Amino acid sequence: MSEPRKYSLTLFGATGFTGGLCADYLGQNMPNDTTWAIAGRNPQKLQSVIERLKSNGCTNLPVAIAADINDSDSLHAMAENTRVVVTTVGPYIYYGEELARSCAQSGTHYCDLTGEPEFVNNLISRYHDLAKKNGAALVSCCGFDSIPHDAGAFFAVRELEKELGHPLNAETRVEGVVTADGTFSGGTWQSAITAFGRPRENQQAMKLARTALNNLYPKKARALPMRPFHDKEFGSWLCPMPTIDPFIVIRSARAMDEYGPDFYYGHYAGIRSLPKMLGGIAGIGGLLFAAQIKFLRNKLLEFRQSGDGPAPEKRARSWFKVTFRAQSEGKKVMTQVSGGDPGYDETAKMLAETGMALALDKGYPKRTGVVTTMMALEGRLIERLQKAGMEFKRLS
Ligand SMILES: NC(=O)c1ccc[n+]([C@@H]2O[C@H](COP(=O)([O-])OP(=O)(O)OC[C@H]3O[C@@H](n4cnc5c(N)ncnc54)[C@H](OP(=O)(O)O)[C@@H]3O)[C@@H](O)[C@H]2O)c1
Repeated sequence: MSEPRKYSLTLFGATGFTGGLCADYLGQNMPNDTTWAIAGRNPQKLQSVIERLKSNGCTNLPVAIAADINDSDSLHAMAENTRVVVTTVGPYIYYGEELARSCAQSGTHYCDLTGEPEFVNNLISRYHDLAKKNGAALVSCCGFDSIPHDAGAFFAVRELEKELGHPLNAETRVEGVVTADGTFSGGTWQSAITAFGRPRENQQAMKLARTALNNLYPKKARALPMRPFHDKEFGSWLCPMPTIDPFIVIRSARAMDEYGPDFYYGHYAGIRSLPKMLGGIAGIGGLLFAAQIKFLRNKLLEFRQSGDGPAPEKRARSWFKVTFRAQSEGKKVMTQVSGGDPGYDETAKMLAETGMALALDKGYPKRTGVVTTMMALEGRLIERLQKAGMEFKRLS
């Protein structure tokens, strides 16, 4: 991006639950010599976000700009006027694509909070070449899905490299085990149930993205078999998590030399007791089944409304840990990423730090096109998150 832009960063969705937290974080952390904006469809709501930032002592207040998903010109103007668009407007499968396309067309970096595989796969197969040609990095999954896992696996392979004393050049296995306590917002619920209800569309999008990725990154990186097992070292059952996270880690591994030539990744929830794990599997299975039936899906969507989310007291008690076991050539390291409320406080921080790195850090993004957080920002994002209070450490 050579020409100057009016704004360093524009946050779209600042009036929502997660977008509001992200606006608060940016209000405390955007450097005073930058100009930034918040965008949305409701001017009164945008103004009250600005009033809140002012009363919290923010000295670099954002400009409010009008943008609506149903007005393509407003999305295009938003993309053209800024270095990076940060968006929290979901479900992304309904609301995300036109903005991502505008960013790819106008060479504007883009980051979002989606965890919806169909949306990410569509971006890969439809906009990678356009974004790359115009020098834009389109970076999805910049919240709890999937930064702790993407950045955590990158941190683990670099620690393994230190242990080996040379770059990884043989088969490497990394397992990421998630433990967490937290709850979800109305927007997350709406996006998850929507995604569960689109299995055929998901399959088709995955097929097209797979072909695109095979052409772009011939190097193989694979998922470990998806079966639950008891692990003595972790002292718990490891239950494979069918989230977007392993797909993101594997994309980073295919594109980057740090992960070695032959990389395997397994992604698990760590659960202490067998009955608890079986209960969890049954619960997710029930939700997946219900989301296939229109009547039940609509009932589920009514259960939590857009705009609401966990209270500050609940968020203050929430936490997450992702522990990684990385092995190659008979050597092993254990590492861990941890932080506070995964879904919202830490997610807002992770998204804002990704946006600020794309907008402000010299020499970044390292790669353009439709890329993962590690492909775009490598260790720079880890440094930013550590400075912001998230912990990345070697256990053994
Ligand atoms: N993967 C993760 O780790 C993670 C974590 C948290 C959230 N998320 C995702 O982030 C997204 C937002 O979640 P949330 O709980 O913050 O949702 P939310 O509170 O419902 O906020 C939605 C935002 O979208 C805006 N919006 C809706 N329709 C619009 C339109 N036509 N034009 C412009 N703006 C529009 C809303 O504006 P109004 O205020 O005007 O209605 C609001 O600002 C969801 O997709 C969720 O899944 C992901």
